[in-house]
Amino acid sequence: MKLIIVNGPNLNLLGEREPEIYGNESLNQVNRWIQNHELCKELEFEFFQSNFEGEIIDFLHSKRSEVDYCILNAGALTHYSYALRDAIVATQIPTVEVHLSNIYKRENFRKTSVIKNVCIGQFYGEGKQSYINGIKHILEKK
Ligand code: DQA
Repeated sequence: MKLIIVNGPNLNLLGEREPEIYGNESLNQVNRWIQNHELCKELEFEFFQSNFEGEIIDFLHSKRSEVDYCILNAGALTHYSYALRDAIVATQIPTVEVHLSNIYKRENFRKTSVIKNVCIGQFYGEGKQSYINGIKHILEKK
């Protein structure tokens, strides 16, 4: 089973960006931790991060006939990107929405996810474990 792990704007600064909210580990460290997690031994991963909405959309397009699932932390695009929402529908890649922080316990604008209804699950508020919770959800679905 092949999964893409896609991270959106500002997630390249993980570890230095608001560590009290997002933790002390870099994106590379988090990605390596996911890859080496015992639940993930049989899985094939490709990791992608971009600060550009269009690049994320292009990446999803390019992977549409290649991958089984997507784990997506869209960062702030979560809250307003109808283009990203449309890309999830258009590519038909079953996608799980994840967030490190609890988006429902922060500023009001974060409480809206425009991608939630086109995703097969939503996991948040557990730091890097949110990604694993998303992967668990996929494995339970199989
Ligand atoms: C985030 C939450 C978003 O509101 C924020 O814009 C991010 C990170 C999270 O992982 O908690 O960039 O997606």
